[in-house]
Amino acid sequence: MTRPCNDSFLRALLREPTEYTPVWLMRQAGRYLPEYCETRRRAGSFLQLCKNPAMACEVTLQPLARYDLDAAILFSDILTVPDAMGLGLYFSDGEGPRFERPLREEWAIRDLSAPDPWDHLRYVMDAVSEIRRALNNSVPLIGFSGSPYTLACYMVEGASSTDYRCIKSMLYNRPDLLHRILSVTADAVSAYLNAQIESGAQAVMIFDSWGGSLSAAAYQEFSLPYLRRIIATLIRQQNGERVPSIVFTKGGGLWLESIADIGCDAIGVDWTIDIGEARRRVGHRVALQGNLDPGVLFATPETIAAEAGKVLASYGADGTGHVFNLGHGISQFTPPENVTALVDAVHTRSRLLRSGTDRKSPQALDLFTETMATSGPPSGSSANPG
Ligand code: CP3
Repeated sequence: MTRPCNDSFLRALLREPTEYTPVWLMRQAGRYLPEYCETRRRAGSFLQLCKNPAMACEVTLQPLARYDLDAAILFSDILTVPDAMGLGLYFSDGEGPRFERPLREEWAIRDLSAPDPWDHLRYVMDAVSEIRRALNNSVPLIGFSGSPYTLACYMVEGASSTDYRCIKSMLYNRPDLLHRILSVTADAVSAYLNAQIESGAQAVMIFDSWGGSLSAAAYQEFSLPYLRRIIATLIRQQNGERVPSIVFTKGGGLWLESIADIGCDAIGVDWTIDIGEARRRVGHRVALQGNLDPGVLFATPETIAAEAGKVLASYGADGTGHVFNLGHGISQFTPPENVTALVDAVHTRSRLLRSGTDRKSPQALDLFTETMATSGPPSGSSANPG
């Protein structure tokens, strides 16, 4: 058994009680940190940073050195998988990711095959084992992948897109070709995530960042079934510990009930939905991760603490089954000291909410007065309500 000393993140994903709400941030290792920019400069490029396990390990640990975070996430990118499929990933400055050979021809789609992660993505597995060694069981390590639909968007468009013209044309004109891409990619993602688990990842997250660009019907046909298929093939237990899975469909707030049905342990939610409402809708089926607007991190520390408090209170005072996070990745323009304010506020306020004494939060106060009404003041308390 290799449970980390701080296992609050894993416990929350499994909906077990925790003393406070664990927190980590999507893209916690990134350009808002000067030390990240410095390591990236030394690496030469973002891709070289991803492909160098020692440097990937170094940047994974950077946010943990600064902040009291409850989980580490592997430093890598979702696009390493299509790169390993031969599409030729590169990053041109200021333009984001691009592929040299986007999937546009029928023959190329027919030729596509799932790469062996132990061969073509060995550098990721090496990074995972190196990070696990360096973490020395302090906090758990999250492995991740893109969803088949999100990866297919990049593979077909060849870059980030605003109108998804190429992939939507394929979806409506040649759904058979898109299904072929999704099916091969789902096999690739399953093998990739399982290899990460075997290398030491203690939870896995699937980023379906573009799933929310689909119609409700298209989401049910082109994204959800492939997510379900991957979840069904994941290693559920490694070294005697459950390996929880998180599915994050950005813009998927309308479809929470169907996502809760695919067998994942937790759903990541963006900030467009109230997390308390999300909780009522999914019931006890899954844990939730989210969902502060990343834009809040441009505000003052007081506002950041207040906004974090609203998310915690909306989820519910007991906090069971909640992992605090942003609703999407942290902006590169975030002042690093604001992250300290956020992490500390989440820990402090969630502890207070659990003890039912945060008078500023209406929900906590309700719980507090309810407890007082039914059982009187907690034993050992000398508080005089009068
Ligand atoms: O969360 C973490 O700290 C782990 C690292 C991580 C990165 N990318 C590092 C990164 C993770 C989990 C990702 C996932 C990822 N990559 C997603 C899904 C999550 C999401 O944001 O929706 C997507 C869509 C990508 C593809 C990708 N990679 C894009 C669109 C870009 C450019 C974005 C930008 O801000 O320029 C990247 C590059 C990238 N991936 C950076 C980082 C830190 C910035 C690159 C740099 O240092 O120049």
